Amino acid sequence: MGAMATVIAVSGRHTASRAARDGLVIRVRAQARGSRPATGSATGIARAAPRAVNAAAAVRRAMVVARAAGVDQSAADSTSSSMTDFSGKFGLVVGVANKRSIAWAIAQATARRGARLALTYQGRFEEHVQELSQGLEPAPLVLPCDVTSDAEIDAVFAKVQQEFGGLDFLVHGAAFAPPDELRSPFVNTSRDGFRMTMDISAYSLIALARGAVPMMEARGGGSIITLSYLGSERVFPGYNVMGVAKAALESTVRYLAADIGLKNIRVNAVSAGPIKTLAAAGIKGFSNILHIYPERAPLRRNVETSEVAEAAAFLLSDAAKGITGEVLLVDAGFHATGM
Ligand SMILES: NC(=O)c1ccc[n+]([C@@H]2O[C@H](COP(=O)([O-])OP(=O)(O)OC[C@H]3O[C@@H](n4cnc5c(N)ncnc54)[C@H](O)[C@@H]3O)[C@@H](O)[C@H]2O)c1
Repeated sequence: MGAMATVIAVSGRHTASRAARDGLVIRVRAQARGSRPATGSATGIARAAPRAVNAAAAVRRAMVVARAAGVDQSAADSTSSSMTDFSGKFGLVVGVANKRSIAWAIAQATARRGARLALTYQGRFEEHVQELSQGLEPAPLVLPCDVTSDAEIDAVFAKVQQEFGGLDFLVHGAAFAPPDELRSPFVNTSRDGFRMTMDISAYSLIALARGAVPMMEARGGGSIITLSYLGSERVFPGYNVMGVAKAALESTVRYLAADIGLKNIRVNAVSAGPIKTLAAAGIKGFSNILHIYPERAPLRRNVETSEVAEAAAFLLSDAAKGITGEVLLVDAGFHATGM
């Protein structure tokens, strides 16, 4: 015991040569307490079994790799059947800028549970995201994507389709408002600033969902999450047009959920308490918001990024398969208080 193993096998029959060529069909990762993780790939297993194998046989072979790494079978079985296991799942994460990004914490939380990821970056963050991605196992795809560009969004999904052959989950963590709009009185919100904030922070969820739907449908369903803030329904000084965009975003979650639920695709939002990130730094008065939570929130503290990421991973996982159209508040309970 004290060991963890993740076994991934897709259903259907695969010849050894096809498994070797695809390199993604079967994969096992095993770790015994106090030792380094051991990984067996489809290619390695296929070489060891040069005849045609089906998924069940592949799992049996994978378990041999797991045992060789010192993992006991029961621990491996129980981990692989967990509802929050992401083994064999493919995810696209949009919105990583740096190590403080909430999207990065969600990427880590799902990769740790076995997900294979594609991360996108907005031009200027390429170097950061490439560097961060080196810490993820399995190694992610890293792709450029400015969400205001339909061509870049199309290119991301084409690449994900080519590399993964389908998609199980999407994390939407992109938001932006021009700095002036967050400094000026709300009544001075400009037409262009309003349009840009809505486009990047709300419309982009629709554009990304549209690309994800056929790829999720091909996998029998999927889960989409976005990140919101309580400024969607209450006034926080300085949050301004971003609050209006978050209201649109949360409404978009409900309309999308209703639209694509029949395809077994769920759409939810995590509404996080304030966290010091790059996006938050642009909000005048953010440090006031950060200080008021520990005074008023039932838990008398702010939330950690990892707590938001765990809630996001829950909504993305099969453990939440009955939940859609929901806005889950992860804010130490602040939203429940009157004063
Ligand atoms: N930090 C908080 O206090 C907090 C609280 C609640 C919700 N949120 C939300 O969480 C999400 C992630 O923000 P964060 O706090 O992790 O900050 P962050 O700055 O790390 O993330 C914002 C991301 O949006 C991306 N982005 C902006 N414009 C883009 C464009 N045109 N194309 C592609 N990507 C673009 C940035 O590259 C960045 O990766 C946002 O939706 C934010 O509103 C943050």
